[in-house]
Amino acid sequence: MASKKVQAFTKHQSPWAATWTALRDLFRASQDIPDPDPTINLAGVHIAITGARSGLGAALARQLALQGAQLTLISRQSPLSLAKELSEISQAPCVALSCDLSDLQQVNQLITLLSQGPALNSIVLNAGLMAQSKRRTPQGLEEMFAVHCAANILLMEGLYDAQALVQRQDGALPQVLVTSSEAHRSSPDFSPPGLLDVPDFGMRDGIRWYGYSKLLFLAWVHSFAPDHPEWSIHTLCPGPINSNIAREAPTWVRPFLGPLMRLLFPSPSKAARPLLYHLSTPSDSPHAPTYLHMQAKKEIDRRAQDPKVAQSLNNQLRPLCRALSSPEEPGSSSSSVPDARAGRSSPQEYLPTDRSSEQ
Ligand SMILES: NC(=O)c1ccc[n+]([C@@H]2O[C@H](COP(=O)([O-])OP(=O)(O)OC[C@H]3O[C@@H](n4cnc5c(N)ncnc54)[C@H](OP(=O)(O)O)[C@@H]3O)[C@@H](O)[C@H]2O)c1
Repeated sequence: MASKKVQAFTKHQSPWAATWTALRDLFRASQDIPDPDPTINLAGVHIAITGARSGLGAALARQLALQGAQLTLISRQSPLSLAKELSEISQAPCVALSCDLSDLQQVNQLITLLSQGPALNSIVLNAGLMAQSKRRTPQGLEEMFAVHCAANILLMEGLYDAQALVQRQDGALPQVLVTSSEAHRSSPDFSPPGLLDVPDFGMRDGIRWYGYSKLLFLAWVHSFAPDHPEWSIHTLCPGPINSNIAREAPTWVRPFLGPLMRLLFPSPSKAARPLLYHLSTPSDSPHAPTYLHMQAKKEIDRRAQDPKVAQSLNNQLRPLCRALSSPEEPGSSSSSVPDARAGRSSPQEYLPTDRSSEQ
């Protein structure tokens, strides 16, 4: 009984347990991959990053711009000011796209934009949120499941079908990097027939449903990768980050959590190291998907290794995806959902004015 209590506290069963576990892991972490080399020149490499406006995504974008990469920054609110800043420091173009990934109709439109734009070499699926209660998306999904799992599945399948990711000039394989979380291990158990049905949750157990959304996408990616060896796919947990992820924390928690995160959690630029390592040392031959926890190699949770989970996800998401491509998609008539066909909920594209002529 006592050991069960200890286990519950040292995993991600509540926000405080997750914070404690993250801190403990920081001091225990081993290092299986080296630090990335910031002098590697990424000129001619085009990388898209979701969740690029703040935290990990923004820090990664900054470093990649310094190394000369061409960037497409994507987030819910426009990352235009960051794109402008980065196009000043990089010799390569930097484009800002705003897209709400919780709305699968917008994700579809994003796929079209990315497929019709300049060829991509890598995409970093990094957007994320820690919701404090269940919220429904325009398609009726739970928001974290939509952003961390459904949107990413749609994006990967759409970009694959459109052959939007291409090899680098030096022959390196197109890359997909997935920002996951160790919290996937604390996902509640689930039964494959009802994967889209997330129950109501509150602040205490929100972290476990966050873990659930991360676990399901890990299961899907690790089952997709072996059938798509022409893509190099890596998944990872960056470890704790002093970022905006706790932006929904209740007001009474913020006076404690903010200083704790600033004092003890690594900066986003430090947490970006494993992503930078993969982007700077791409593979030129097929490999099994990998999972890193910070810079240490780990196995994913055994539930995410079950191919039946990915199969069930595909079966349950398919009707939703079919409905999205038909003119009467669910949600299009809802008053809370702007009419995509009128262009109001389409992803918006912004080009920093001084660089737009280079596109
Ligand atoms: N922070 C940690 O301790 C920690 C630990 C493990 C894993 N992670 C993972 O690391 C990734 C980056 O998180 P972070 O810590 O850098 O948090 P962050 O500072 O809050 O950044 C999250 C980014 O995701 C974007 N985003 C959220 N919902 C979106 C939506 N519906 N559509 C489009 N973009 C959306 C946000 O865009 P807007 O700014 O426009 O809203 C923001 O740019 C996440 O996947 C997170 O789960 C974080």
